[in-house]
Formats: sequence, structure tokens, C-alpha cells
Amino acid sequence: MLRAFSSCFLLFILTLITVPAAAGATEFVFNGFQAGGLILNGAAEIEVTGLLRLTNATNQEFSHAFYPTPFPFLNSSGEPSSFSTSFVFAIVPHYTEISSEGLAFAISPTPNLYSTLPSQFLGLFNLSSNGQPTNHIVAVELDTIENREFDDINDNHVGINLNSLTSVVAAPASYAQSSSLFRNLSLISSQTMRVWAEYDAKKMEFNVTLAPFSSPKPFLPLMSYTINLSSVLLSEMYVGFSSSTGAAAGSHYILGWSFSLNGREAELLASNLPSLLELPDDKKRKKAILFWFPVTIIVFLVMVLGSLFLVFKQRRRLAEAAEEWETEYGLQRLSYRDLHKATRGFSVENLLGNGGFGEVYKGVLSKSKQEIAVKRISHDSRQGMKEFIAEIATIGRLRHRNLVQLHGYTRSQGQLILVYDFMPNGSLDHYLFNRVEQSLTWTQRFNIIKGIAAGLLYLHEEWEQVVLHRDIKASNVLLDADFNGKLGDFGLARLHDRGSMAETTRVVGTLGYLAPELSRTGKSTTSSDVFAFGAFLLEVACGKKPVEFKTTGVELVLVDWVLEFMERGELIEARDRRLGNTFVVKEMEMVLSLGLMCSSPAAVARPRMRQVVQYLEGELSIPALTEEDLLIFHSGSMKKRLLGDASLSGSGDGTVAAIGSSGWDHGAGLSLFGR
Ligand SMILES: *[C@@H]1O[C@H](CO)[C@@H](O)[C@H](O)[C@H]1NC(C)=O
Ligand SMILES: *[C@@H]1O[C@H](CO)[C@@H](O)[C@H](O)[C@H]1NC(C)=O
Ligand SMILES: *[C@@H]1O[C@H](CO)[C@@H](O)[C@H](O)[C@H]1NC(C)=O
Ligand SMILES: *[C@@H]1O[C@H](CO)[C@@H](O)[C@H](O)[C@H]1NC(C)=O
Ligand SMILES: *[C@@H]1O[C@H](CO)[C@@H](O)[C@H](O)[C@H]1NC(C)=O
Ligand SMILES: *[C@@H]1O[C@H](CO)[C@@H](O)[C@H](O)[C@H]1NC(C)=O
Repeated sequence: MLRAFSSCFLLFILTLITVPAAAGATEFVFNGFQAGGLILNGAAEIEVTGLLRLTNATNQEFSHAFYPTPFPFLNSSGEPSSFSTSFVFAIVPHYTEISSEGLAFAISPTPNLYSTLPSQFLGLFNLSSNGQPTNHIVAVELDTIENREFDDINDNHVGINLNSLTSVVAAPASYAQSSSLFRNLSLISSQTMRVWAEYDAKKMEFNVTLAPFSSPKPFLPLMSYTINLSSVLLSEMYVGFSSSTGAAAGSHYILGWSFSLNGREAELLASNLPSLLELPDDKKRKKAILFWFPVTIIVFLVMVLGSLFLVFKQRRRLAEAAEEWETEYGLQRLSYRDLHKATRGFSVENLLGNGGFGEVYKGVLSKSKQEIAVKRISHDSRQGMKEFIAEIATIGRLRHRNLVQLHGYTRSQGQLILVYDFMPNGSLDHYLFNRVEQSLTWTQRFNIIKGIAAGLLYLHEEWEQVVLHRDIKASNVLLDADFNGKLGDFGLARLHDRGSMAETTRVVGTLGYLAPELSRTGKSTTSSDVFAFGAFLLEVACGKKPVEFKTTGVELVLVDWVLEFMERGELIEARDRRLGNTFVVKEMEMVLSLGLMCSSPAAVARPRMRQVVQYLEGELSIPALTEEDLLIFHSGSMKKRLLGDASLSGSGDGTVAAIGSSGWDHGAGLSLFGR
């Protein structure tokens, strides 16, 4: 009897705990989440407090969390169902005020959106799937970055997306206080907010509403959009969230979520939701102070002693970290403490940028007052570190006025820190592509081109070993106080090889600068560097990126575009219009033709850097492209390759990895460390 009773009781408790739906149910509510309640992938995690954390403190990351059973979004006669959902979320950026992409509520045919991209793709789509009607994805995006290619309205908006990252309707994050007054909200404020998304299938009305969690539901939605969803929805679809971080990291949290098909979603219980941060209110705080004051003092003392101990230990540890082999290479090993101090503790104010390999900070050495740029790369593979430091040391021995000088390095806690000369005018791409007031004059541009050519010639032919750059592009060209160009980041592409993928060989470079043979052979050569240099010449002369993307796919392939001008006999018209009439016709024509010559799909047709410099200095004149050259161009058209090559997979910043077939053993004598 007692046993029967207790098992009954147990059953009762169990039914209480498993609130979310049994089969056939059409609604669920999560006031906080439990492990196992959702299908998670990527960085998504359910914390012990019941918070669903979609992304963590890693950048270029995406994640998905979907309800495990699908719902019939179309009924048997193919009519869409109505639905309503509401969820409470918070976006906590890693660096205050620096956006980390966004998150989206998504209705999807599958909970496993594996081949999608992070960053602006929100973990929902990739380059080729974006915009395709075969996606069958309905999403409500909370987007904190303005991506022009997707026609985003600003960097803080809510939008309805159908199969594409270009929203069908979007509005700045805000909520109605009266019919004429909308109050703005900042999505990245770490504040908890709530979204309602409701679709009435009869009226074909899709409403999205946003409000701070502490406010009641506004009587007016933020957006109301009329749409027949019958072609987007399928008879079985999953509901959930997709989220991504971009250049900067940030955490995207969901605190509670309620959903109903063909009905009104259940209310979320504010008191049952996990809390994001325990902020005591003022009353509690006063009481707390009385109690905590003596406790704080004791804790403080313990902490001071503790940190003294830690500092002492850390110093010893740092002193020990220099291994024997490191002293062999003779490159200056700087102290982590000095760099920490120089960059004011790697503070956000000192952050200059977030490159492909890591963050770059400005610093001032306290003793010499010398300005430096400090690149911090996280690198957790201990294996390969020795080889890499050897390479770094080799790079440190390179000296040329058109190369950014590496001064030294240090290692600390899985991070590799490189110290370079500080370049007050930043990177060249900023002047070419951003709509800055001050564009560069032709004289400056031509001077930069000649400088970079000289720097590359030094790497390829004038130093004791052949050094490949592997990632030549405008954003790797830095400008000193007098706008002289200097090549940066050389050799670092190899770190990427090592750190991220030990098994497969990856050719790392940037879309549009990768020579066609690279994706086949995986071997970088001086000739693939020349190819990238060609793309660089064209971007400097035309003020356009080598490949421009639009929602519909590839918008402009610069080589093909310039080629068309050449074939029409008006090559000079391809120039950057912002130059006006202040340019030298002969030089412009030469740079454009040289750019084409270096961009030849056939490696043998490209000049060597020695010749490139002779052309630029006017010691040789450039031969005209022959019929045969043109044929080669047309058969190897970059646009065709971009659209057709399945081995290309992109990531948010346009960095592309092509899987090659061979290992790191690059052609003899061609690689810096050819072994
Ligand atoms: C974040 O999640 C990713 C993917 O699961 C994982 O590789 C990474 O180590 C996590 N980072 C942190 C800081 O937890
Ligand atoms: C499907 O839904 C439509 C509109 O909601 C309704 O008129 C129709 O009767 C439904 N069909 C079936 C087979 O349930
Ligand atoms: C893009 O996504 C689609 C659909 O999810 C997938 O079939 C395709 O393989 C993906 N493409 C790449 C290049 O990852
Ligand atoms: C609210 O945000 C929009 C878009 O960012 C802006 O145009 C508007 O001026 C803001 N309104 C207020 C009151 O700040
Ligand atoms: C959408 O908002 C409008 C305007 O407030 C309202 O009349 C309508 O009932 C809402 N529709 C849904 C599906 O919530
Ligand atoms: C929605 O579109 C489908 C197919 O185009 C059509 O059969 C259906 O009648 C439309 N629904 C309404 C409510 O107009």
C-alpha cells in the first residue's frame, strides 16, 4: 500500500518536473532550462542555474538550441498554422559596448544546422544557402552589427527574415509607450528583454514586439508584417534559437521561453526565471552593508595576501617559462609584465583592431616611451610551439623598410604575444574602402605599391632564405606617419595552419587573393604570393575589394571587371573615381595591366617579383596581353571558381580555407622553412 502510494507520488512529481510537451502536444513553456531539455550544438550550454547560454567568450562561434520534437506548421491541406512565442533574453558583450553579432528565434526544418557560418551569418546560413527558398527558415533576428551586404538598417535592430539574412522587414530595437512614442533599447546593454513573435495564419499577420523584461507587453507591436508563410513553412518544423559571435565575443542568454501552435503561448513566470546577475535592490543593499562590512575587511586582507602570493608565484612561473631552446634564437623575449603595463592591461581603449590572428593593442613602453603594437594570439597547442618560435625568430631577423619590424615576443598562459613597430596611420584598406574623408592621392598610392613590391622582393629573393608571405592584401599593409606602406603579418599564416587544424592541410588566405592552384595543390609558392599581389594592385588602383558579396551571392569580381574594361580598350576607366583627375595616366595604366598580369590563372604566366619591381620602376615595359592570355583568363574566371568550387568554405570575415592534398612540405626552396 505504502509502496503503491509512494510510486504514485513519484509519478506525480515526475509529471510536474517534465513540463515540456509529450508527443502530440502543441505548446511548451520553459521557466529556465534543464539539461537534456533541448538539442544543443556549437557553443550552446545549459548552466546549472537554468540559464541557456547560446554563445560563450569565444569569437567567430555559433550555436543552436532547438526544441527536440517538431511541430506541424502546415496542416494536411497545406495551410500554415498560427503560432505565438515569447522569450526572455540578454546579450552580454565580452567588451562593454562592443557588439558580438546577434541571435535569432528560428523555425527550421532541422535542428542540426551544421554547414552554417558564424558572424553575420548568425549560424543560420552559409554563403551559398543564404537567400535560397530551399532553406525553409523563418527567423526573428536580434542583430547588433550593421552588415551593408544584407541591407541592415543599423547596428541595433530586430528583423523578420525568410530564408535569407536580408530582413523582409526590420526596425530599430525599441518599444511603444504610446502610439506615437517609441523608446529606444540597446540590445547589447546586458539588460534582460523580452520578445514576442506572433503569427495569425488567417489574417496572415506576423507581429514582433520587444520590451524590457520589467515592462508589460506594449500594446503596439514593433513590427506588423503581412505575409503568407505557406511557401516557407513545411509540415514538420523545429523551433529554437541560433546565435553567433563575430570579431568580438559575447554571451547570448535565454532565460525563459514559451511557445504555442494555434494558441496563445503561456505566460512566463518572472519569479521562476534564473537570474542573469544577482543585483540586490537598495534596501537589501543597506542591510547587507551592515553585515558585510567586517566580512569584507577580512576578505580583503586575505585577498591582498593571496594576490601577493600569486604575483610571487606568477613571477617565478614566468621566469621558468623560458625554455632552454628559446634562448638559442636570439630574438628579444620581452616580459609579460612590461607589455601588460604598456597596453594598460590590454584594455579596450588600447584595442586597435581584431585581425584574423588575434587582437592588436597599442602600447607605450614605460622606459623608452617607444610606441608599439602588441598582437595577442591565443595558441593552445604546446606541440609545434618550438618550431613556431623558431619561425618567429627568423622573421625577427628580417629587416627592410617596407616590412613592419617585429621586435620581440613573449608567451603567457597559452597566448603568444608579438611586439611590432606601431604604425600611426593604420591599415591601407581603411583608406581604400571605408568612406573616409581623406582618401589617398595617386602619388601616395603609387609610392605604397612600389614599397610593398620592394618588401616582397626582399622576402622572395633578397634574403638568405625564400620567405613566403601567404596573406598579402590591403588590410595587411600598414602605413607609417608619412604614409609609406609596410607589409605586416608575414609568416603568420603558418601559425594558423598549425594551431587550428593539425590533421588536414589548410591553405589559409583570403577569398579573392587565393591563387587557383592553391586550392588544388595546397602549396604556397612565390607565384601564389604574386597572385595576391596582383589582387592588391587592382584594389589600390580601383578602390574596390577583389570580391564583393551581396545577398544574391558574388556581386563583383574585380579581375573580371577590370578585364572587361581592358577588352573594351578603355582600361584607364577602371580607376578609382575618387582620384578625380589627379593621377598619372601612364602609371595608372601600368599598375592596372600589371595587376591583370599578376592575376593570371596560370601560375607560369605571372611575373616574378624581380620583374614586377622593374616594371614599376619603368626599367621594363609591360607586354600587352595576348589572345592566349585572354583565353586563359576566361577559362579560369574567378567568378566561375567562386561559384563552382565546392572545396571553398568561408567564414564571416571572408577568410577562406581550402583543403589541399599535400602536407606542409612546400616545394623545395620555396618555403621559408623548407625541410
Ligand atoms: C566555447 O565553446 C566552444 C565550442 O563548444 C569551445 O570550443 C570553447 O572552448 C568555449 N570557450 C570558452 C571560453 O568556454
Ligand atoms: C487547415 O487550416 C485551414 C485554415 O487554418 C482550415 O480552414 C482547414 O480546414 C484546415 N484543414 C484541415 C484538413 O485541417
Ligand atoms: C551550405 O548550406 C547548405 C544547406 O544547409 C548545405 O547543403 C551546403 O553544403 C552548405 N555549403 C557549404 C559550402 O558549406
Ligand atoms: C532611436 O534610434 C533611432 C535609430 O537608431 C534613432 O534614429 C533615433 O533618433 C533614436 N531616438 C532617440 C529618442 O534616441
Ligand atoms: C498585430 O498587431 C496589431 C496591431 O496592434 C493587432 O491588431 C493584431 O491583432 C496583432 N496580430 C497578432 C497576430 O498578434
Ligand atoms: C497562401 O498561399 C498559398 C499558395 O500560394 C495559397 O494556396 C493559399 O490560399 C494562400 N493563403 C491565403 C490565406 O491567402
